[in-house]
Amino acid sequence: MSDTTTTTGTAAARPLALVTGGASGIGLELAKQFATHGYDVAISGQSERVFDSAKTLADLGVEAYPFRGDAGTYDGVEGFWTFVTDLGRPVAAAALNVGIGVGGAFVDTDLDDELKLIAINVTGTVHMAKRVVQHMVAGGDGRILVVSSVSATTPTPYETVYGPSKAFGFSFAESLREELKDTGVSVTALLPGATNSEFHANAGMGNTKFGDNSWKNDKTLVAQQGYDALIAGDDHVVGGDEATKQAAIDNRTTPEPVKAARQAEAARPS
Ligand SMILES: NC(=O)c1ccc[n+]([C@@H]2O[C@H](COP(=O)([O-])OP(=O)(O)OC[C@H]3O[C@@H](n4cnc5c(N)ncnc54)[C@H](OP(=O)(O)O)[C@@H]3O)[C@@H](O)[C@H]2O)c1
Repeated sequence: MSDTTTTTGTAAARPLALVTGGASGIGLELAKQFATHGYDVAISGQSERVFDSAKTLADLGVEAYPFRGDAGTYDGVEGFWTFVTDLGRPVAAAALNVGIGVGGAFVDTDLDDELKLIAINVTGTVHMAKRVVQHMVAGGDGRILVVSSVSATTPTPYETVYGPSKAFGFSFAESLREELKDTGVSVTALLPGATNSEFHANAGMGNTKFGDNSWKNDKTLVAQQGYDALIAGDDHVVGGDEATKQAAIDNRTTPEPVKAARQAEAARPS
């Protein structure tokens, strides 16, 4: 256990949060939220930059623990969990954030890419949730944030597997929440609208409306809303501006084919 003294107290005295995919994008912004509210943070990422991101977080006056591994493999997920538990401290909060997209027509996209998406967004989320839930329930305390998407509320043509993976996350979070309501462990889903990260570029969607980041929601705002909902113990929050929140409300009463056609216009490669 680290006993490093910093400006906001000692590591042993601070709560510990983990953020999967916390090396950049919404995950790094969530990690910053935890850090600025006095949590030490363990973050994972797939590339070397997770180490630089940890330095950025440490500059906020907390301990930051970087782990590099592939969240799409059993060993990568288990490795991050072992890394966190080896710190020898209770995990007070967990943001199950890591996720990828795959853009393009299903008839053309590569099966391996979509199986990887499912491995990260679905299988990896369930795997890490199992570890986190059993740990937190045993301690009778904890907060879990599952990063889903507004895509959970609509068909997502040209991101054909992505939206269903996020619908899984939303329903999974709400299901777990009910099961855990008397355990001291809360579960919250964050449903961001389109957000200005590297997500759509990484998903190969540069040649769609989503290739332009200028109109999207601000990732810092989205993360702040997610953190606030987590601390409030809300069941879910839509991340983004008022138009994004209204779109999520409208999606509840809009027929699936209508939403599918609208989504196709935005996501179809040009
Ligand atoms: N951006 C949006 O418009 C949007 C909207 C709704 C929901 N979301 C959801 O928000 C979450 C975060 O997305 P984002 O926008 O922040 O995406 P992003 O900018 O692409 O960041 C993804 C993060 O996950 C890490 N990562 C990717 N693949 C990984 C792997 N196989 N193993 C370990 N780490 C991996 C990346 O690590 P490196 O930095 O090392 O590459 C990066 O830190 C996702 O679940 C996504 O579905 C995003």
